[in-house]
Amino acid sequence: MRLSREMRLVSRPTGRLPQPGDVALVEVPVPDPIPGQVVVRNLFMSIDPGSLLRMNDLSRVDIPDFQPGSPMWSDAIGMVVDSESELLSPGDVVWHRFGWRDYIVENADQFRVVDPSAYPSLSHHLCFGLTAYVGIHVAQVQPGDIFYVSSAAGAVGNLAGQIARLRGASKVIGSTGSPEKVKYLLDTLGFDIAFDYHDGIRSELDELDVYFDNVGGSHLEAAIEAMKPRGRIVMCGGMEEIRSGVPKGPSNILSVIGKRLSLLGFYTFDHPDLFPTFDTEFSQWVRDGDVIISETIVDGLENGIEAAIDHLNGVYLGKVVLRI
Ligand SMILES: NC(=O)c1ccc[n+]([C@@H]2O[C@H](COP(=O)([O-])OP(=O)(O)OC[C@H]3O[C@@H](n4cnc5c(N)ncnc54)[C@H](OP(=O)(O)O)[C@@H]3O)[C@@H](O)[C@H]2O)c1
Repeated sequence: MRLSREMRLVSRPTGRLPQPGDVALVEVPVPDPIPGQVVVRNLFMSIDPGSLLRMNDLSRVDIPDFQPGSPMWSDAIGMVVDSESELLSPGDVVWHRFGWRDYIVENADQFRVVDPSAYPSLSHHLCFGLTAYVGIHVAQVQPGDIFYVSSAAGAVGNLAGQIARLRGASKVIGSTGSPEKVKYLLDTLGFDIAFDYHDGIRSELDELDVYFDNVGGSHLEAAIEAMKPRGRIVMCGGMEEIRSGVPKGPSNILSVIGKRLSLLGFYTFDHPDLFPTFDTEFSQWVRDGDVIISETIVDGLENGIEAAIDHLNGVYLGKVVLRI
């Protein structure tokens, strides 16, 4: 019989980060598939701020959280190794949301077949291009826009900047957490302006048409101050609160009224109408060299929690993927 390791939430962390004992890597037998089911061997899974966020009660933001006693989940890429369904065959490469384990046995309709040749690496199917693409769509980025993205060397941010450029933004500005990441944004990804937010934010920004917010708090406050009248802010994430554990809103929220700004929160999976165009357009951009997928690969399911904490603390560049 096959055995599979799976990461379970044991108890919700009392602090910002999980402590030893809050999660457990356990070994379980892999059941035989019943009619309609397939067995998938995971190859890569996404490490993202959501992995730590979902350990807590997220009813406030309307995102499903992990349940104590149950395996955790995340986006993953795997290969079908056994099938009792006409929908999938052994060898198919599939995207799904059953990460944090070696194997998963589930109904075939829970998996989406991907083209293994679409990107240079199978792991690239886990990049957050779709989130960046949806956010840029929601922001209605227009030719000539001055565009600012925070956490610009992160998984969503680096691609948001590159896609904004392809949509015609005349100036792409990114903030990040170290001189090395600033250099990467300027020299490798071709951002027009990149700066380290530890040195200050507001002075680097002026006359923004669009702000793509991955951080919230101090970054959102600075961007509101720097927005043009009727500018658009798309709210994707809140790294400042996720890292500090302390909610902090902008002190200048009344300027949103004064300047007639739009503040639009979005959730990627509310936009399935955009998925087909994303699939064709994004993979073409990558093939043509118009988009670079920035990625860091970490090995081993047993190292996943540490990788998630390191990611939160800015250790890595781009999308962090765990090879299982
Ligand atoms: N709305 C949606 O559908 C959707 C989908 C996916 C993700 N998200 C959210 O979008 C945000 C970005 O996701 P991601 O996966 O791309 O994460 P990410 O930006 O790669 O997040 C990790 C990075 O955040 C930065 N960071 C941490 N604390 C910070 C702080 N206090 N101030 C500024 N930067 C900080 C660090 O980079 P530095 O070295 O630059 O500090 C770290 O490397 C997250 O909040 C995530 O939850 C939303």
